[in-house]
Amino acid sequence: MNDIENERNLKNAIELGHDQALNDQKGNDVFLLGDIHGDFTAIYKWLNTFCKKGDSLIQLGDFGAGMISVEKIEKLAFAAKQMGVKIYVLRGNHDNPEYFNLSVKVNDSLEFVPDYTVKKINGLNYLFLGGAISIDRKKRKEGFDYWKAEGFVYHPNQLLKYYKNIDVVVSHTAPEEVRPFYGMGPHPDLVNYQKEDVSLEKDLKEEKDLITKAFDIVKPNLWASGHFNQ
Ligand SMILES: [Fe+2]
Repeated sequence: MNDIENERNLKNAIELGHDQALNDQKGNDVFLLGDIHGDFTAIYKWLNTFCKKGDSLIQLGDFGAGMISVEKIEKLAFAAKQMGVKIYVLRGNHDNPEYFNLSVKVNDSLEFVPDYTVKKINGLNYLFLGGAISIDRKKRKEGFDYWKAEGFVYHPNQLLKYYKNIDVVVSHTAPEEVRPFYGMGPHPDLVNYQKEDVSLEKDLKEEKDLITKAFDIVKPNLWASGHFNQ
């Protein structure tokens, strides 16, 4: 946990003043992209089609860390650096948590951002909340395409520490306000997965409750999430 960096980022935001921080005069854009599962086609398309020097991309989890080669990630990081853009990767359930726990920075242009990190990007403070439970976790192989520590971890003290200064939350799973557990329908195959994973629905509901508590504490101007891509 890089509390020192968080403190520094927030101090900078306070020194700038909230209104000033909300208005980026440089014309740099921040793009959000979710759930690429190791297929970098969309990122390269973004790099080659939409981005300009100074832009940033936040990958909303399920990047494929631990499931794809390091060389493939290094090649992407090199391409981003060449273009002068920055890629921030949020932890998804289909990512090895070690990449994030160790705050892996491939280079200045691609980094794996640990949960509860606050990053100041284009004058706004982004809070990173990774993790989600895999609905098909029983069918996956641990260490290959499944990690036990995949879920969202609720740290109310961290949230209470920073909540006044957060403009945007980026998460992998979504709070009830963003995607209701039943309102938009649970996963269509939940009934089938539940047959082999009897605590699945209970665990998913608990996780939904916790990320919703996080929402209730922070209540940012914008909340963006990935994960629900069926
Ligand atoms: Fe996911």
